[in-house]
Amino acid sequence: MNKPEDIEYLNEISYSYWKAQVLFVATDMDVFTLIAGNGKSCKVIARRLRTDLRATEMILNALVSLKFLRKIKEIYRNTAISNRYLVKDSPLYQGDRIHHFHNLMDYWSKLSDAVRTGKPTAYDNAEEEVDEKRLREFIRAMHNIGAVQAGEIYRKLHLKKYYSLLDLAGGQGTYAVRFAKENPKMKAVVFDLPEVIKITREHIKESGMKGKVATKAGDCLKDSFGKELYDIVFVSNLLHIYRPGENRKILKKCWDSLLKKGIVVVQEFVLNSAKTQPLFGTLFSLNMLMGTHRGSSYSYVEMKEWLKDVGFKNVKRVNLELDSGLIIGHKP
Ligand SMILES: C[S@@+](CC[C@H](N)C(=O)[O-])C[C@H]1O[C@@H](n2cnc3c(N)ncnc32)[C@H](O)[C@@H]1O
Repeated sequence: MNKPEDIEYLNEISYSYWKAQVLFVATDMDVFTLIAGNGKSCKVIARRLRTDLRATEMILNALVSLKFLRKIKEIYRNTAISNRYLVKDSPLYQGDRIHHFHNLMDYWSKLSDAVRTGKPTAYDNAEEEVDEKRLREFIRAMHNIGAVQAGEIYRKLHLKKYYSLLDLAGGQGTYAVRFAKENPKMKAVVFDLPEVIKITREHIKESGMKGKVATKAGDCLKDSFGKELYDIVFVSNLLHIYRPGENRKILKKCWDSLLKKGIVVVQEFVLNSAKTQPLFGTLFSLNMLMGTHRGSSYSYVEMKEWLKDVGFKNVKRVNLELDSGLIIGHKP
C-alpha cells in the first residue's frame, strides 16, 4: 500500500542538496549582507550582484520559501535568522561554516568510492600539501562554530575557577581567547600545527589578547605539550581525525601536561554505543572517512575507556545545546 508520508520522507532527503545549494550560493554571493537593513528589490539585487534578473528572482523566491528572506511588495528583506547568522558583520556569523560545507561537496560526491575502498576521497588529486586558501576557510569555519558555543561551554564547565588552559589543536584560538576574556585570571596557550599557528597569532593580535594567550606550534602526535603546566586541557574536535591508538597517545600527553587536580575536556560529536545516533554524528563519521586517513566519530563508551586507561577518574559527560558533547576526566 502506498504511504504518502514515506514518499515525502524519501523525497525530502533526495532533494535536500537543492536546498543546501540555494543556501551555499546565496551565502557565497553575500545576498544577506547586501540587503540587510531596509531590503532591496530583485532588480537592485541583480544589478549589484551582476546576476541574471530572471534567475535571481528564482533564487530569491526559493530563499523566501526556505524562510531566509521575506518578500513584501517586491522588496526582499532578511528574516531574523538571516540577520543574526548570515550578515557578515554579525558576531554570530555562520557564513564561513556554510561555505565549508559547500567545499566538502567535492569529496562527498565521491562517497561511493570511499565506501567501496575504505579510503579517503579528499586527497584524490595527489598531494597533501597545504592549500593556504582552503586552510584559512576551514579555520574560519571552525571559528564560526566556536563563536556560538564558547559561551555555553564556559558556563557549563565553570571555567571561572581555572587559571591555566591548554587549547590543544585550538585552531585560530577561538575558545582560548573567549575563555581568557571571560576569566581575567586565566592564561592560555593554543597548540596547533605550524601552518595554523600563523593564523592563530593573527586572531590573538586582532582580539587584543596577546599578553594572555600564547601559541605553541607543533604536532600533537609527535611533540610533547609540557609537564604539569595546566589546570585544564581543552581538546575540541581533534580526536575524530585520528584512530583509537593515536587518541590514547594524545590523551596520555594531555595527562602529562596537567597539574594534579587538573581536568581534560574533550569536545566531540558523541555517538551512542550502537553508533547509530545522533544523525549528525553518524554522517560526520562518513565525513571523516572521506576527509581523513583514519578518522571517525566515536561513542561515549569508547572515549570514556581511553580516558580511564590513561588514568583519568570521575569521567563524565556534559551535553551541549547543539550537536556536540563534552567529556570530562579528572587527574587526581
Ligand atoms: C576540527 S579543527 C578544531 C579546531 C578547534 N579545536 C575547534 O574546536 O574549533 C581540528 C584542529 O586540529 C588541528 N590538528 C590536526 N592534527 C593536528 C596535529 N597532529 N597536531 C596539532 N594540531 C592538529 C588542526 O590544525 C585544526 O586546527
